[in-house]
Amino acid sequence: MSKVIHHADVETATLAIAKECHELAVNGREDGSRCVFGLATGNTMASVYKSWANLALENSMHPQTQGFNLDEFWPLAEAGEQSFGAFMNEHFRGPLGLGEDLFRVPACPAGLDPVDFCQSWEAAIQNAGGIDLQLLGIGANGHIGFNEPGSPSSSRTRLVDLAETTRLRAGFVGDSAPRQAITAGIATILKAKKILVFAYGEDKADAIRKALHEPPHSDCPASYLQNHPNVVWHLATY
Ligand code: GLP
Repeated sequence: MSKVIHHADVETATLAIAKECHELAVNGREDGSRCVFGLATGNTMASVYKSWANLALENSMHPQTQGFNLDEFWPLAEAGEQSFGAFMNEHFRGPLGLGEDLFRVPACPAGLDPVDFCQSWEAAIQNAGGIDLQLLGIGANGHIGFNEPGSPSSSRTRLVDLAETTRLRAGFVGDSAPRQAITAGIATILKAKKILVFAYGEDKADAIRKALHEPPHSDCPASYLQNHPNVVWHLATY
């Protein structure tokens, strides 16, 4: 079941999401153990990390809290400072001094077979007890993570080709954006206990409408979120 919250502005939405993440990170799971976050990148998320980090600096998160980012460019060397690892360092890991061993990005090292890497990534999420709360943005073409249109609902963490529109929007100079990435699959995302989607902007309006109101279809990967029992969409007027 999807719940949709319409916020008056982006700041209000940002704060609501940051607070929910912060409270969960401080309190942990119901049995008192630490929880595990699924984390996303992108402009939409940058302000969430800023607010969350400010809250966490005042009241620290449960020790051993973990995070698994959704995606990373491949090969990593081609991403340079635009890598999602660099994004997480700038916006979250750096300000909070979080270790890369606990807040991980699916950065496949050069020389390692991406297929093996993706298998070990799925196993690491499972060994951590699964993801308690998944943060999610959406692409203008309806992608979630880097699950571009055409991605099957049964997909797991894997190496994918990026859509040209995604490459153009990724903020690289000229045509230098990597052509591939490693992404958690749609089935990987749907295994999270709860999912928070944050989206706003004219350019995403059509993808949001399809995701919420059209039958789930691989043309709009975000529409598969309808199959999850606990998704909250935070939408904001831009
Ligand atoms: C990238 C990420 C997605 C993110 C999307 C939206 O493609 N792989 O996880 O949701 O960007 O980014 P933005 O918030 O910058 O619009």
